[in-house]
Amino acid sequence: MQLQDILYSQGFGTRRICAGLIQQGWVAVHSAGSLEPVVCLEPAQNLKEQGLVLRVQGQDWPYHAKAYVMLNKPAGTECSQKPSAYPSVYTLLPAPLRQRPGKSAVSGVQAVGRLDQDTTGLLLLSDDGQFIHRMSSPKKHVPKVYQVTVRHPVDAAQVECLLAGVVLDDDPKPVRAVACVQRDAHRIDLTLTEGKYHQVKRMIAAVGNRVEALHRARIGGLELPADMAPGQWRWLGLDELALLK
Ligand code: URA
Repeated sequence: MQLQDILYSQGFGTRRICAGLIQQGWVAVHSAGSLEPVVCLEPAQNLKEQGLVLRVQGQDWPYHAKAYVMLNKPAGTECSQKPSAYPSVYTLLPAPLRQRPGKSAVSGVQAVGRLDQDTTGLLLLSDDGQFIHRMSSPKKHVPKVYQVTVRHPVDAAQVECLLAGVVLDDDPKPVRAVACVQRDAHRIDLTLTEGKYHQVKRMIAAVGNRVEALHRARIGGLELPADMAPGQWRWLGLDELALLK
């Protein structure tokens, strides 16, 4: 693929902007055998995309045909592109991830489901529509583990109810946790396979308690790495993607 098309596909702007970046010497290519990347001034230079690492305006950028990233969502951020009260999680991502051209009118990566503004933890984002659908569809039953801190001490009856199923106001069909592990008097790990609006908070309210803090620790087999600070993002490796399948 031509270098200008590669840059365009990665979200560095229109083809014209990408050609300009290249001609102005802002784009270098890491190549085997050389320690430093080599500046390429030719927009039409043909390169093999697989395994390619570019350096664009001083930042290394590994080529990804599709983007799959994880973010440790901090409290006080909204998962919407057009937030109403708090900063959007998208502002935590570099511009190319937000600008990657897509087939539809939507450009850039999209959050796989949403977390409330006060919820922290593992959020996936991608520009692969099929992946987003597969991960967020209730029919696919992808388990998600939430670490929940509650106001009142949890008792055995509450745990039993969460596992047996509770009725949420607008929905006649009970929803249940597939697992509920009590950590201490005020903390439980709840595993859900659906993603209804405010589901954890509403389930906890339905058993007579109240959520004080909510953190998503795991999606499928993928756990939020302990060394990822709130607000940090990173690409998912192939091994991590496999854990989501
Ligand atoms: N359930 C909630 O109530 N809030 C979240 O952010 C996620 C699940």
